[in-house]
Amino acid sequence: MSAIEQLLAKNRAWAAEMVAADPTFFQQLSEQQTPAYLWIGCSDSRVPATQLVGLLPGEMFVHRNVANVVVHTDLNCLSVLHYAVDALKIRDIIVCGHYGCGGIKAAFKNYKFGLIDNWLRHVQDAHHKHAALLATYPAEEDQLDRLCELNVIEQVVNVSQTTIVQQAWERGQPLAVHGLIYRLTNGLLQDLSICITSPETLNEQYEHAVARIAALSAATSNGRRQSIQPAG
Ligand code: CO
Repeated sequence: MSAIEQLLAKNRAWAAEMVAADPTFFQQLSEQQTPAYLWIGCSDSRVPATQLVGLLPGEMFVHRNVANVVVHTDLNCLSVLHYAVDALKIRDIIVCGHYGCGGIKAAFKNYKFGLIDNWLRHVQDAHHKHAALLATYPAEEDQLDRLCELNVIEQVVNVSQTTIVQQAWERGQPLAVHGLIYRLTNGLLQDLSICITSPETLNEQYEHAVARIAALSAATSNGRRQSIQPAG
């Protein structure tokens, strides 16, 4: 069986399973979609948006790209956002990053791959913005984890600053933008404690989320010092 034949066989089995559980499932879905969430995540095959939160088809609108970046000139992402907010009236937008992200690592290490370097330049901007904070972590793996988190926080702000989200808030449409991060090694999502629900909450939420990461740095450094002292 070829790779595509395998996929088609898996698809037939899946569709049959869904119909066995609910004979009207596909008929109902074909008539309309009313997803509650917009997910903006990384393209990484190990972070399958709908699956890892246990949702069914029809329950989440999804946009994925390398390193879950939201750029104001990216018509692809903006079109998804526009449809989600204006047509589907989605109330919760989630930017989800993940630890062990290859895109974040490439940006961090300044690897040169070609075209994608231009895309990852946006992650490097986040890196440079938070260089002082990141430098407080002695271990590179901690710096990488923190950059994965900070990148999500920056993209949450970018979503919140789009004309689409700003205009929704202006007309009184309820809309919250959240930041989450996924751990590949245990399959768990973690809330990055940022939830922007209006232009007024933007700065305060951003500063709170970044301060939380800075506080984590102090705790980590203290922990390391304490743990190495007895060995001296
Ligand atoms: Co990734």
